[in-house]
Amino acid sequence: MQLIDGRAISEEIKQELALAVKSRKEQGKKIPHLAAVLVGGDGASISYVNAKVKACEMIGFESTLIRYDDSVSEEILLAKVQSLNDDKSIDGFIVQLPLPAHIDELKVTQAIDPLKDVDGFHPTNIGNMVLNIPGFLPATPAGIMEMIKRRKIETEGKNCVIIGRSNIVGMPLSIMMARNSNPGNCTVTLAHSKTKNLKELCLNADILIAAIGQPGFVTADMVKDGAVVIDVGTTRIDDASRERGWRLVGDVDFAEVAPKCSYITPVPGGVGPMTIASLMLNTLKAMDLKGK
Ligand code: GUN
Repeated sequence: MQLIDGRAISEEIKQELALAVKSRKEQGKKIPHLAAVLVGGDGASISYVNAKVKACEMIGFESTLIRYDDSVSEEILLAKVQSLNDDKSIDGFIVQLPLPAHIDELKVTQAIDPLKDVDGFHPTNIGNMVLNIPGFLPATPAGIMEMIKRRKIETEGKNCVIIGRSNIVGMPLSIMMARNSNPGNCTVTLAHSKTKNLKELCLNADILIAAIGQPGFVTADMVKDGAVVIDVGTTRIDDASRERGWRLVGDVDFAEVAPKCSYITPVPGGVGPMTIASLMLNTLKAMDLKGK
């Protein structure tokens, strides 16, 4: 069994990006500037956004964090999105999800200029992804593809089962893993809460990807010997032994599944850091897409 160390791969990428920033500076080109909008005080969202801002600092990107209270109106948020669209100094921005229930996430996502939508959530970018036209790919699935590529894991002709059909992970990843590319060329099954015979489907998977947010959902009896297992779960559970009072757990029961795998991603330190690295790659790409 080999661990796919997402933290180490993301460090490689961040170092490459830092070099790209240095070279842009030397050529007198604009330094990429990422803005992040965070609504409310959800602990996980705060940590993710802080990690994104910290990654910008490490690479040498400029960053701006805009925070609103939970009670912010949809109107004010949409006006902020419009001002970020219009602000020439900002190359890309994200609105951290989830948003409070009184705000329509789709409306906010659709208001973002597709050329600044470094999360790749706008319908234009989703459409480009489906048709394999250059655009922004959603960060988590793109990070998973990058980690598979950099660790030279074979995907062609393999059976790939993805559990979870979210717009952020499962749905786009199913498209990327099935497309005619390397990595890609898999026969993909997108499983979800209504899927029958999930265990049998998973036992047939050469590559099994869990993205449902249910701690320990994937157990050893669902995993084929020699499978590649990618764990996208990041659920916080109480842990009094930690100073902060919680720890992150994945969707895979790592202790019992890992011995059966050829490769497996840990939680934390697997997919999570790759999501951040992908967002940074997208922010640099924003410059290319606009010819800056
Ligand atoms: N919430 C969970 N993952 C993401 C992400 O990749 N981007 C944004 N904006 N919100 C998220």
